[in-house]
Amino acid sequence: MTESHPKITKAVIPAAGLGTRFLPATKATPKEMLPVVDKPAIQYVVEEAVGAGLNDVLMITGRNKRPLEDHFDRNYELESALARKGDESRLAKVQESSDLATMHYVRQGDPRGLGHAVLCAAPHVGREPFAVLLGDDLIDPRDPLLQRMVEIQEQHGGSVVALMEVAPEQVHLYGCAAVKPTGDSDVVEVTGLVEKPEPADAPSNYAIIGRYVLDPHIFDILRKTEPGRGGEIQLTDALQQLAATYQSAADAAGKIGGPVHGVVFQGRRYDTGDRGDYLRAIVRLACEREDLGPDFKAWLRSYVTEEM
Ligand code: G1P
Repeated sequence: MTESHPKITKAVIPAAGLGTRFLPATKATPKEMLPVVDKPAIQYVVEEAVGAGLNDVLMITGRNKRPLEDHFDRNYELESALARKGDESRLAKVQESSDLATMHYVRQGDPRGLGHAVLCAAPHVGREPFAVLLGDDLIDPRDPLLQRMVEIQEQHGGSVVALMEVAPEQVHLYGCAAVKPTGDSDVVEVTGLVEKPEPADAPSNYAIIGRYVLDPHIFDILRKTEPGRGGEIQLTDALQQLAATYQSAADAAGKIGGPVHGVVFQGRRYDTGDRGDYLRAIVRLACEREDLGPDFKAWLRSYVTEEM
């Protein structure tokens, strides 16, 4: 690693969304706090960042998001009640989330899109590369993705997105990348990006899943990025500009912000973004749990045979 490739230590987690797809559950509770089995969805995401060596976590929050801060803080009353009872295992569960990472919070104020949320991180991040993790995607810790992305960023500089091949009829739900191969079978160079394209305009079936490692030049671009799809400032549009600048520059000096690469993920990903996916994620994760899985699977098997 050279001077120009500082070590990545900061993760940014946008969490200001209203969670309208889960109303009424999200009327007074942030969607990020909905449990996936017995842990709030957001804790899986923070654990993933920490697992990749990113111990400094900035959450972009908004109104009604106080429970997020409370979850990653100490709860002395509960801790002393459990300690008095000698309930060590539950005490450990309570303390786990407050001991995970160094947490920071900033409010987005006006929710003007993912690009705008990421721009809110600029004062905290400074001029270092950093990661962005979207809370609706959970990545199985047994299939590490972010570590690989950090490695590729350290190797090539610039920015790295996580890509997954999806069925053509799914492409309109994602940012979609035009790519060319590299020497690594799981890595592509991104030559262009389109946010949620119509099937006819999709350059490929490589979809961005919610993990990014970004060069800080992205902030300079985001400051000038006009609202795009859905009237929102799109991170994909800013990344498209980074990729285009790099591709079209004739000399090294013009390649500001570096290349954009994609790591093609083939591991287990759980989507918690809508109700159906959320239910599937819970069932899959519950089945895999050592403590709950055996009983739950036996019940599920008989439920499916008898009821369906
Ligand atoms: C966002 C991004 C999109 C990306 C997706 C991944 O969209 O804008 O490019 O593919 O996350 O989950 P959202 O799902 O927030 O609409």
